[in-house]
Amino acid sequence: MLTREQVQEILQPLTDPETGKSLMELQRIRDIVVKERTVRLSVTYSSEDVRASLEAQIRELLEAMGAEDIHIRMRPLEQGGGEAARNQEPSDQEKLTKGHAAGMENHELLSEESGVTFIAVASGKGGVGKSTVTVNLAAALARQGKKVGLIDADIYGFSVPDMMGIEIGPTVSDDGVIHPVERFGVKVMSMGFFIRENSPVIWRGPMLGKMLRQFFSDVAWGELDYMLLDLPPGTGDIALDVHQMIPQSKEIIVTTPHATAAFVAARAGAMAIQTEHEILGVVENMAYYACSHCGEKDYVFGRGGGGKLAETLHTELLAQLPLGGPDNHPSEPDFSPSVYKPGTESAAIYDEVAAKIVDKCESNR
Ligand SMILES: Nc1ncnc2c1ncn2[C@@H]1O[C@H](COP(=O)(O)OP(=O)(O)OP(=O)(O)O)[C@@H](O)[C@H]1O
Ligand SMILES: [Mg+2]
Repeated sequence: MLTREQVQEILQPLTDPETGKSLMELQRIRDIVVKERTVRLSVTYSSEDVRASLEAQIRELLEAMGAEDIHIRMRPLEQGGGEAARNQEPSDQEKLTKGHAAGMENHELLSEESGVTFIAVASGKGGVGKSTVTVNLAAALARQGKKVGLIDADIYGFSVPDMMGIEIGPTVSDDGVIHPVERFGVKVMSMGFFIRENSPVIWRGPMLGKMLRQFFSDVAWGELDYMLLDLPPGTGDIALDVHQMIPQSKEIIVTTPHATAAFVAARAGAMAIQTEHEILGVVENMAYYACSHCGEKDYVFGRGGGGKLAETLHTELLAQLPLGGPDNHPSEPDFSPSVYKPGTESAAIYDEVAAKIVDKCESNR
């Protein structure tokens, strides 16, 4: 599998014969899109003399690195190449970094007057089911008729699109506004939509923060009642960033029933308290295994972690969710690997949690 970075690197040595500068740096090779072994790009050439050889060189380099399906768009420099072409046809990436049009919404969305209740879902350690809880709670709130947005803020380990069975990404209009994908009545935005081929994210913190901020500023969320955020695990920089970016956010802490997990989750709770976020409650996931024949509960991962954590954080134990994935089949039209179907036992528990949250968040309005 090829990446955009690899293509950029291999084409870096190609230079403009007149100035000797790299064509990549001059932005004469641009709009690079890489998907598996398909590479698309556009090139502006300075004169007809170099056109054919330049195209051949690029093709050769790309083939040498394993590209099979190569689409090169050649444009003359003097006829709308360079800057002019740039303005005519911004790539999705550019649109993303450009968008101002929805910028107005930024302040609105994050402002107190927006009326949007932010709920961040946090945990002390990874793999306890934060993302599962986030997507199911979002779906449950939507079932209650709420307008719900979801930001997958786990920038390194984004998993929400996949978990919700989202196959088509958001659209970006020419003014740079991103239109979120809607699934199960929830408007979804994830870093996963913009990173192709599951390639590792190598950006550093500041870039990640910028990207997140863009999710607030350049996305046409429309009217929302709730915005859920799936946080990265733990209490690292990104989690702290998100906390600080949305000071009014409330939190739900997810843990497993194991004492150690709950102990570690208390750190996430401590972070919420330090950043003055109201903790709405604790969700204990994978709380037990219920026998499908007799219904007897087997507490395979221990017992009491969630209750103890809620006590430590002076909050409520919102739910105890059993072990077991949703019984969904890929052939179903609204298939998703992680969202429980309405009417199932787990979905009913999420409905209860959603009702409690609505009650807590809206009772004193
Ligand atoms: N109640 C449950 N029963 C069975 N499997 C579950 C349950 N909850 C979550 N899982 C599974 O456990 C794995 C981890 O869940 P999930 O991705 O939601 O955790 P996470 O805390 O978001 O993880 P990460 O820290 O990697 O982001 C997933 O494969 C998920 O399908
Ligand atoms: Mg996750």
